Amino acid sequence: MKFFVDTADINEIRTLAETGLLDGVTTNPSLILKSGRDIKEVLAEICDAVSGPVSGEVVAMEASAMIAEGKKLAEIADNICIKLPLTMDGLKACKALTSEGYKSNVTLCFSANQALLAAKAGATFISPFIGRLDDMAIDGMELIEDIRTIYDNYGFKTEILAASIRTVNHVKEAALAGADVATIPPSTLKALVKHPLTDKGLEAFMADWEKTGQKIV
Ligand code: E4P
Repeated sequence: MKFFVDTADINEIRTLAETGLLDGVTTNPSLILKSGRDIKEVLAEICDAVSGPVSGEVVAMEASAMIAEGKKLAEIADNICIKLPLTMDGLKACKALTSEGYKSNVTLCFSANQALLAAKAGATFISPFIGRLDDMAIDGMELIEDIRTIYDNYGFKTEILAASIRTVNHVKEAALAGADVATIPPSTLKALVKHPLTDKGLEAFMADWEKTGQKIV
């Protein structure tokens, strides 16, 4: 499973990239707002920090304007992935852009039929939003399972990018459901490594090691 981080905070991204565990980045207009940065400047810095796909989202509502914005964003770096909304115009723009060889991430997916359309439009990634469905008491993970089945039934190459992840359990469940990628907020990504028994065990080993009086280097 690939791990993307869901943020436009360049400091967080650089720190996580240093671990060697980061495969890409997703941003959206709300995350750009939160960063307080200019979209093109911050995307350029992110693309420089991470070699994998970096999603930058278009904000036009009509297909030809989305295509123009997508191409402008793609000029920033080779690893830009053009993020498009799951509307008929977004799908039209997706089809046109992917036919020209651009990478695309179709976002705001809340149903299996929407995901089927995105795959038919040639999307590189489909982003089902787990957390926002859970917020409405709808099982977001069932959507991931349904999309996995449909894509496997027809051999679609579109990668399932589990988005709107809120908890470490979401990551585990998305992996079990067969998502190809999870895009995870920095705090949740860092929390994946945590376990109280790891901390407790390490503390005991360190205390015993201290008593040996030895050194390795
Ligand atoms: C995905 O690409 C989105 O940026 C993101 O996962 C949305 O998450 P949220 O529902 O927590 O805002």
